[in-house]
Amino acid sequence: MSVDWLELEKIARAWTYEAAGLIKKSLANPIHIEAKSNPDDLVTEVDRAIESFFYHKIDQTYPEHHFLGEEGIAEELNSLDGTVWIVDPIDGTMNFVHQKYNFAISVAVYHDGVGMVGLIYDVMNDELFHAVRDHGAYVNNEELVPVKERPLHESIIGLNAKWLVQEKNPFRNPLKALVRDVRSIRSYGSAALEIAYVAADRLDGYISVNLSPWDYAAGIVLLEEVGCKASTFRGEHLNYLQKSTVIVGKPRLHKEMVSSYVGEEL
Ligand code: IPD
Ligand code: CA
Ligand code: CA
Repeated sequence: MSVDWLELEKIARAWTYEAAGLIKKSLANPIHIEAKSNPDDLVTEVDRAIESFFYHKIDQTYPEHHFLGEEGIAEELNSLDGTVWIVDPIDGTMNFVHQKYNFAISVAVYHDGVGMVGLIYDVMNDELFHAVRDHGAYVNNEELVPVKERPLHESIIGLNAKWLVQEKNPFRNPLKALVRDVRSIRSYGSAALEIAYVAADRLDGYISVNLSPWDYAAGIVLLEEVGCKASTFRGEHLNYLQKSTVIVGKPRLHKEMVSSYVGEEL
């Protein structure tokens, strides 16, 4: 059955705004926080409730579609065949917990592995970054124009500074060299927002040593609409079923960061 992606995006957008309302409402009460893989990997009952909200909406409206989400509400997915929704209910949970600010809902829809719809909603700033494949990328109602390149030494890159001090990180030295050579770095604490900022020309690139598909799936749809590139550190296509290194940026900058910094065999 063929899908009207523009129509689907409208529906996904309405659900995203509804979910944002639930998140804002939850801020009025104390939030129960738990740690996942380590003491700094946080999750709250709000993350789980929002993932469940999307899962049930999608299941009721599109029972033939599949679901991939961070909090494990759906069964594990082993293939991207068919239509797959990739959802991060709150990207930037640490910001949600500590700042009550700077977090996003990230929703992507892929069809046979191709990104068709991407939505990243900055809940507290009321900024929706959205794109439908071949129909352009927008922030709220403003269309994002194809990005302009800057030389590496004038570029601002999104990067979590923690990666620079972790002894075991094999990319520590290449990343330090990159930080030395660019104009500056920024760290906003939400990979989805940082990738959206590259599409919106607020950052020139964004790099992470370890991200999951729900962190970048929606952002990649935005990036493709404005001519930016995304890959693993080695320059390979991103795989949407496992964690990986991620480097995104304007095309020339992306190529230079991969070839001259992080892409080398270690
Ligand atoms: C995290 C954020 C953070 C990034 C982490 C992600 P979460 O997602 O995107 O910026 O550095 O790697 O896990 O846990 O808040 O959904
Ligand atoms: Ca995330
Ligand atoms: Ca999350």
